[in-house]
Amino acid sequence: MIQVGTGGFGAAWCREFLSPSVRDRRVKVVAAVDLEPAALQNAQRYLRLPPERCYTDPERAFAENPADFCTVVIPPAAHEAVVDLALRHELDILSEKPIADTLEASVRIAQKVRQAGRKMGVTMSNRFAQDKATLRHELRSGHYGRVDYLVLRLTYNCRTYGSWGAFRHEISNPLLIEAGVHHLDVLAELAGAPIAASRRNLFAAGFALVALVIAAAGSLTSSSLGPSEMRLDRVPDEVNSVSSAPLAWLTRIRSGDIK
Ligand SMILES: NC(=O)c1ccc[n+]([C@@H]2O[C@H](COP(=O)([O-])OP(=O)(O)OC[C@H]3O[C@@H](n4cnc5c(N)ncnc54)[C@H](O)[C@@H]3O)[C@@H](O)[C@H]2O)c1
Repeated sequence: MIQVGTGGFGAAWCREFLSPSVRDRRVKVVAAVDLEPAALQNAQRYLRLPPERCYTDPERAFAENPADFCTVVIPPAAHEAVVDLALRHELDILSEKPIADTLEASVRIAQKVRQAGRKMGVTMSNRFAQDKATLRHELRSGHYGRVDYLVLRLTYNCRTYGSWGAFRHEISNPLLIEAGVHHLDVLAELAGAPIAASRRNLFAAGFALVALVIAAAGSLTSSSLGPSEMRLDRVPDEVNSVSSAPLAWLTRIRSGDIK
């Protein structure tokens, strides 16, 4: 496999997620890519890759190292280019969430992967965290009856530029794109939603997105500059202060413009 992204969370992939499997010979990492040469030290240190297998040029890394699959552990706006590269080299893909930085790019990626006949997995790791797993276990135990509705509160205090990774302070709606995707996934899972890619699910995701944005109005629009709160029980009249982008996505999904 080829590890794309070895800084930031990619350092954890090298150090914690991959290294035990590399040690047990279940996974063989043949190359690593990061635009930042210093970040490639993580691949050399934890994956024992020689310097000549560490690349700052993704095209060269893929061209020179046949592999079965690659990871994608770089900022969301750069995911699609790596997916394109992987598909050109007939690799499957294991990508960090979110699929991409926009719904359009996410849909394009899904279509391209399907058309190429490859497999792509997206790591939604938060649902497996111990607190969520315990809550899920309790909800399913039947001890508390049927769930009527779910409320999720997300708080972040990222007032200083770079305190939540520099790129998140530079993109639109970072709380939604970079964090809210986890919470939508956790809510969907706690509510017992099936996880499968279909147009119906895109509808559901669109509605959930709108609900989340309505709920987070006033806090999401100030993005990561201050502590924020997402609640699914906020009143809809706050919608006026919300970016219209998710509403536009929903309209386009419903009209069949995005399939
Ligand atoms: N599942 C989780 O809990 C979790 C946690 C953190 C990050 N993530 C995800 O991981 C991804 C990366 O986030 P991060 O926090 O590591 O970001 P980051 O900015 O801290 O690090 C990204 C790394 O990618 C490199 N990079 C950037 N563009 C590149 C490109 N085109 N080709 C190769 N390398 C490139 C950078 O040099 C840097 O080393 C995001 O999709 C993010 O949502 C998931």
